[in-house]
Amino acid sequence: MKHKKSSKKNGCLIALEGGEGGGKTTQIMRLTRRLKKAGMDVISVREPGGTVISEQIREVVLSSKNVGIQDTTEVLLFQAARAQIYGEVVIPALKAGKVVLMDRTRDSSVVYQGMVRGFGRKLIEELNEISTQKTRPDLTLLLDVPVKVGLARRADSGKVDRLDMEAKDFHEQVRKAYLTLAKENKNKGWVVVDAEQTEGEVEKALWELVSQKLKI
Ligand code: TYD
Repeated sequence: MKHKKSSKKNGCLIALEGGEGGGKTTQIMRLTRRLKKAGMDVISVREPGGTVISEQIREVVLSSKNVGIQDTTEVLLFQAARAQIYGEVVIPALKAGKVVLMDRTRDSSVVYQGMVRGFGRKLIEELNEISTQKTRPDLTLLLDVPVKVGLARRADSGKVDRLDMEAKDFHEQVRKAYLTLAKENKNKGWVVVDAEQTEGEVEKALWELVSQKLKI
């Protein structure tokens, strides 16, 4: 199948990735605030979600009621939510020159569905190329935290979804897969940030990386 060529973009796409309890959501809020203060035109979105339609898909794919969901259904729902957010929000924003901060994106599928669920990286990357219209992050920040720490933080927050209920071994595999990707892509815009540090320390580390990237 022929795909459209990547849409030329002037903005900057920054992704936060990582396993459970790394603090991505809090850090996205803090980064957004700092970027706005610095006068940047910034939007932040999460995957799955970020549009009315994608949030409906999120509800289906993450609801703890849907334990019967097939692995293939899961793969396709994450991609469906992604196609919608890239078409509706991410690509127009990048074309308009904005900074787009994403709480998870295509590499979450590479890790969770491709490497851990076993669909393979090749298939997931092919689907990612369709759903993102060949858009890749300019910078990927991996918030890395030991599984025990991440799951304890998640339990404290009381916010547990279907994937949080997976066994500890699943989360260990997720962490390992992310670290493998980070190692492979060290010179291609991936940076590992130690997310076991305090929120303030992580915020400072992320700000240094982002402000350097955006030349603020
Ligand atoms: P969410 O509560 O947003 O994640 P977080 O743990 O970052 O707070 O839930 C998203 C869950 O969906 C998370 O367990 C990872 C998973 N996921 C995938 O398996 N594949 C994907 O492509 C995406 C975007 C998320």
